[in-house]
Amino acid sequence: MIVGADRADGARLADQSVRRWAFLSVGVVAVLVVIAAAAGLREAAMPQVAVETVDPRTLHITGEFVEANLGSAVETDGTVTVRVIGQQYSFTPQCILVPAATPITFRATSADVIHGFLIGETNLNEMLVPGYVSVFHARFKAPGDHVMPCHEFCGVGHEGMWAKVRVIETKQFFDLARKRRRLDCAE
Ligand code: CUA
Repeated sequence: MIVGADRADGARLADQSVRRWAFLSVGVVAVLVVIAAAAGLREAAMPQVAVETVDPRTLHITGEFVEANLGSAVETDGTVTVRVIGQQYSFTPQCILVPAATPITFRATSADVIHGFLIGETNLNEMLVPGYVSVFHARFKAPGDHVMPCHEFCGVGHEGMWAKVRVIETKQFFDLARKRRRLDCAE
């Protein structure tokens, strides 16, 4: 049999329990909000780790994008690195020479405004942003020529900003690479 005092006790206990759970659920939401806000602020305040920067004003004078360093080069692990600059209104080199069936790393940047880097008949589509190095990987199955139009409007000469990628036989490329450190189609 429940007497008056017990009933009041029970009601108070139930009330306490409801209050506790209410505080707990509000607390969980508050903690999640703090975590989300901290993560957002941290993201905004710190550059992403994978981003490489470069000073577009000194590209031609110092660093990996000096003229003698542009074009295709064989790395010690047998892969090929291609360094390219986009500028109003051309790419350097104008014709990129690469071997078929070989992992290729493109490292590219812009000397002035944002340009697009698109290799026809492939899914390679990047932006060249002044101040940043765009890094992307490719492997061409077979020899052949690909057109490479700039696909970001970059000024009055945008329409005429084109380059070419020439894929040649693997052996032919590495034979050429033994003679020269940097290659483009002129070789
Ligand atoms: Cu460069 Cu459009």
